[in-house]
Amino acid sequence: MAMIPKETIEEIRARANIVEVVGAYLPELRRRGSTYKCCCPFHKEKTPSFTVNDARQIFHCFGCGAGGDVFRFVMDYEKVDFVTAINVLAERVGVEIVYEGGQPEKSGNKDVLYKLHTDAAAFYHRMLLDGAEGAEARRYLEERDLPLEVIKDFQIGYAPPGWEELLSRAVKKGYTAEQLEAAGLVVPSDRNGQKSHYDRFRNRVMFPICDQMGRVIGFSGRIMNKAEKGAKYVNSPETLLFKKNRVLFAFDKARKPIVESRQAIVVEGQIDAIRCHQAGLDNVVASQGTALTDNHAKMIRRYADEVILVLDADAAGLKAALASSEIFMANELSVRVVTLPEKEDPDSLIKNSGKEVLIKLIDEAPAALDFLIDAFQRSENIKTEAGRMRVVKAVLNFISHCPSAARRDPMIHAAADRLNISPLALSQDLRRAKQQQRPVRKQAEAEETARPVISKKTYPRQETALLELLVHYYHDVHPLVHDFLPPGHLTDPTCKQLVETLMLDPPETLTEGFHEFDEPTQKIICQVQVQESRTMDEETSAVDLAQRYILIFWKRALEREQAELKQRTDISNEERFVETTRIKHDLHALSKGWNSALPMLETRLHKDVDF
Ligand code: CTP
Ligand code: MN
Repeated sequence: MAMIPKETIEEIRARANIVEVVGAYLPELRRRGSTYKCCCPFHKEKTPSFTVNDARQIFHCFGCGAGGDVFRFVMDYEKVDFVTAINVLAERVGVEIVYEGGQPEKSGNKDVLYKLHTDAAAFYHRMLLDGAEGAEARRYLEERDLPLEVIKDFQIGYAPPGWEELLSRAVKKGYTAEQLEAAGLVVPSDRNGQKSHYDRFRNRVMFPICDQMGRVIGFSGRIMNKAEKGAKYVNSPETLLFKKNRVLFAFDKARKPIVESRQAIVVEGQIDAIRCHQAGLDNVVASQGTALTDNHAKMIRRYADEVILVLDADAAGLKAALASSEIFMANELSVRVVTLPEKEDPDSLIKNSGKEVLIKLIDEAPAALDFLIDAFQRSENIKTEAGRMRVVKAVLNFISHCPSAARRDPMIHAAADRLNISPLALSQDLRRAKQQQRPVRKQAEAEETARPVISKKTYPRQETALLELLVHYYHDVHPLVHDFLPPGHLTDPTCKQLVETLMLDPPETLTEGFHEFDEPTQKIICQVQVQESRTMDEETSAVDLAQRYILIFWKRALEREQAELKQRTDISNEERFVETTRIKHDLHALSKGWNSALPMLETRLHKDVDF
């Protein structure tokens, strides 16, 4: 696996002065004697206890205990993983990262897919700008008021009408039809028993969809002519790179403005997002017509405190707004909802009435809770007992999604005020409602209170060591672990889950999907990535070590089994004796090293299916 060389990391560390880096994020950082201080960005406080030490190049908060080096600061502040933090700082200080073990091979076919998407986006873009066939598309975009600079900025393109335009060019460049199929750019067909492929996107205006780093991972293609048959938009299917419930259009461009404003605006269509960016509203992303998911909320939560939903005014839009609000609120984001004038979307509104109108709607957008009550007031008669109870129920259900008591409290007061009920009664009802949904709430609350404890938790040394080996020597170690170690032999649930993940997916999954893991898991991931196997030396290979650990885990599992056997009352003494003898025999084999243990491992692995 490709790795960032230690020297590179050290060079970045040497060049990235922590005072400058932190100061760039926290302009209020001030010199106080020998250190620098300001209010801590990781917890709420009024008097500064956040300290940056220039001499030691570390930060520490005396209030909440946050602390670490410059990498840790970027990780915690930007909520990114270690590798991303390295990249962020490398860019800042102008160090080029040359991966050890070769960049291109790094993630197998994923890299090919990235490259393929980059090439395809460039091809479509060229077809739009230069091709004779692109004339209609150019005219279409002109009619839609999307000027050249926007077309270039978003790398908008045009897929020509032929069936093998992209296919034939990509194959000429050395890609295989299978790679194009895996990228979702061509569709397989089976005519007369012969397998062939054709371009998925034909005669459409093409919008590249990028991941957070700005790499193209998919496309959305719009039809230009209403008369033509086919869906208005054709999108990339789910691929190794493109996961609909994890991508937000324009997130790469909006990320920085979102961090700066701590606010994200979510619209539906990509043209809406493009129009907003063009109008200077640059913290806008588009959901691209799909339902917003928990993953989307987590993506945004890394950078923002508040989300503003700009959705259609129709009934479907209203329902979607409420569902999305609950998801965002469950992720501790404040939510406000913009209702657009009928028959308008952000694109048309800006075009017809000017951006000021949209900006005003955004500024004045009501909190999601008020939006909900407003909507109910239009359809229910709050003056009747039954009508009011229906609203109360909906309101309680809504508030109960909010995990933070501090945030729930003002909502209860606001709702009580509007519904003309006492806040006390409402909060009592809320408690009752929450008791009814116990399982969900319990978990969220447990997470809330357990956090400080979890972060201090340590993990079984050998289990994390195995993870280190898996991460750093995946190709050597994966087959061994896969074939010889039932994950159930690990005792720590987090380690076990990570090993299971690594059995299915390569280590890149851990960094790429970093923020979908819970906090303790993230901690382990960071730990195993920075620490290279501690016990390794010239004579011991990764494989040797992995074998050693596998034997240790087996030994412990058998010892646990042995102990359980003693307790069991449902078996005869004879059975107990047979089993105990077998375990003793196997433990002996284990103690003699890998080769002696192998036959016994094979037998157990094949017999004990339910291990
Ligand atoms: N969408 C889609 N497939 C469709 C229709 C819509 O994927 N058949 C997605 C697109 O991402 C689109 C978004 O849903 O941008 C919103 O749809 P819609 O409001 O119909 O389109 P607009 O974005 O307004 O596009 P346009 O202005 O070009 O009509
Ligand atoms: Mn539109």
